[in-house]
Amino acid sequence: MITIRRAERSDEDAIWEIFHAVVERGDTYAFPSDMSRRDALALWMAPTVHTYVACDETSIVGTYIIRANQPGRGSHVANAAFMVAPSAQGRGAGRRMGEHCLAEARRLGFTSMQFNFVVSTNESAVALWKKLGFDIIGTVPAAFNHPTRGLVDAYVMYRPL
Ligand SMILES: CC(C)(COP(=O)(O)OP(=O)(O)OC[C@H]1O[C@@H](n2cnc3c(N)ncnc32)[C@H](O)[C@@H]1OP(=O)(O)O)[C@@H](O)C(=O)NCCC(=O)NCCS
Repeated sequence: MITIRRAERSDEDAIWEIFHAVVERGDTYAFPSDMSRRDALALWMAPTVHTYVACDETSIVGTYIIRANQPGRGSHVANAAFMVAPSAQGRGAGRRMGEHCLAEARRLGFTSMQFNFVVSTNESAVALWKKLGFDIIGTVPAAFNHPTRGLVDAYVMYRPL
């Protein structure tokens, strides 16, 4: 059973653990693999960001954020980012967070959602976002330096809300 709620300051240790484990792998996000806890939490828990955690019976297994993709006249378009703890991946937490995120973004008044940088080799993410109604609206050639595959494309994915 996965429950999702807004993140609190007391969740920062768990969020950092997941963030660090995902980013250290270097195959899904362009963040530097050695990004510090301080920089990571400044980004993930910023006042302009809506931060959520997904919990199973015992612990936090995932976290996601919603924010405006652009300021001002672009601020009706949401952007989001998701991380599931490597040990908890493939068990439905990502889908639960994705569905929750769409509902929350609508509730917050956003009219569409855009992912700016989905690494094309990230098969589970691309498959999940397609299942949740996103289309690939653009491909940025060789935009990501994958640790084992070298330069691979990144997708811009979008759906109206
Ligand atoms: C991508 C991520 C958020 C997905 O979350 P998850 O909990 O691992 O995924 P789920 O168990 O919810 O599975 C999601 C769906 O993808 C499908 N899927 C998984 N791997 C797949 C693959 N290689 N090909 C096709 N479908 C796949 C699953 O079958 C599932 O479909 P269903 O819900 O219809 O059964 C998670 O793996 C993660 O945090 N990865 C590292 C960070 C990351 O990539 N973030 C997203 C950046 S865009």
